[in-house]
Amino acid sequence: MVAAPPFGERRSLMYEFYSDTQTRATRAMREAILDIELGDERHDADPKTTELCERIADMFGMEKAVFLPSGTMCNEIAIAVHTRPGDEVICARESHIIFAESGGPAALSGVMMHPIDCARGLMTAEQVTAAIRPRSSHAPRSRLLNLEQTSNLGGGAIWPADQLHAARKAAQDAGLAAHLDGARILNATVATGRAPKDYTDGFDSAWIAFTKGLGCPVGAVLAGSRDFIADAWLLKRRWGGAMRQTGVLAGMCLYALDHHVDRLAEDHALAAFIGGELAALPPVRRVEPVETNIVLLDLAENAPDARAVAGFLKERGVTVTVVGRRRLRIVTHLDVDRTGAQVLIDGFAAVPTIS
Ligand SMILES: Cc1ncc(COP(=O)(O)O)c(C=O)c1O
Repeated sequence: MVAAPPFGERRSLMYEFYSDTQTRATRAMREAILDIELGDERHDADPKTTELCERIADMFGMEKAVFLPSGTMCNEIAIAVHTRPGDEVICARESHIIFAESGGPAALSGVMMHPIDCARGLMTAEQVTAAIRPRSSHAPRSRLLNLEQTSNLGGGAIWPADQLHAARKAAQDAGLAAHLDGARILNATVATGRAPKDYTDGFDSAWIAFTKGLGCPVGAVLAGSRDFIADAWLLKRRWGGAMRQTGVLAGMCLYALDHHVDRLAEDHALAAFIGGELAALPPVRRVEPVETNIVLLDLAENAPDARAVAGFLKERGVTVTVVGRRRLRIVTHLDVDRTGAQVLIDGFAAVPTIS
C-alpha cells in the first residue's frame, strides 16, 4: 500500500492525468474547516452547507440548492424528478449520463436515452427539435434535455452561450425540461470570462462539482426551483444521500470557491501546452482543439492502440484515460504541473511507431 503523502504533496511519482478528480485536499483547505460550527444537514441545520447552497443558488440565479455527495447523484436525481418511467431523455451520445453512470437513468428512473451524434458533444437547436418525438401513444414521451458544460468526452469543449440557450429553448418550447450538467461549468466561465448565470439562465436545473478542477474531496450542489429542490430532497433521503455534519465538506467547497477558481486558467494553459507539444509527435495523429483542461487525441495508425500506449505511459509514471480504441484523454488539474507534463510528453515521444 502506498502511504498517504504529507498534506498538499504529490503522491509518489505518479502523475495522474487521467482525471481532474485526482486531486487531494490541500493543507489550507483542510485548515479552513478546523474551527467551523457544525450541524445536522438533513435537518437543514449545518451552517456551512446552508451557506454553500445559498451561494450556488445565487451564482446560478436559481431559487434553491441542495448539497449532494456526487455529481452522479445530481444527474440521477434531476432525471428522476423531471421524468416518469418510459419517458425519453435527449442528450449527446458522449454524455456522462450515458457512458459513466452505470445505467442509472434506466435503473433508477426507467427512462430511455435518445443520444444525438454531434461534434465535441455540442448539438444544435435543430438537432434537438429533430429528436423530439411527436406526441403519440406509440412513442416514448420526449421529456428532458441534458447538456454538459463543458463537454467531458467532447474534449472539454465549451458551449457558446447562444448555442446552449438555443438548444435549451428548442426543448422547453416543446414542453421538455432542461438540465445542465455543470460538472466543469467554472472551467467554461474562467476560459470565457462569462458569469455562471450566462450559462445556467433558463435551465430547470443545474449543478456544479467540487471534486474536479476545484480540488475538493467530496461534494456537488444541485440547484433549481423551490419545488424542484423539494422533490430532490425526497430522493436524496430515499437514496441515502442525506448526511449529517457536511460542514466539513461544504467548508472545503467554500474555500475552493474563494481560492481555486481563478487558478483554473493555469490548468487550461497547461492543457494547451501539452496539446501543442503532443500534436507534433509521431505517435499522435490529431489533437482536438484544447479549450479548457482536457486534451483529447487520436493515435497515428502506425502507433500501438490506446490501451497499449496508456500501459506504456503508466510504466513511465503517468496515467491517461483510454476513451476509444485509438483515442486518449488527458486532464490537467491542481495536482499536476509542468514537471509532470514533461514526463507525459517525453513518454509520448518514446512510444514506438512502425515506420
Ligand atoms: C460531465 C460529468 N458529469 C458528471 C460527472 C459525475 O460526477 P461524480 O464523479 O462526482 O459522480 C462527471 C465526473 O467526472 C463528469 O465529468
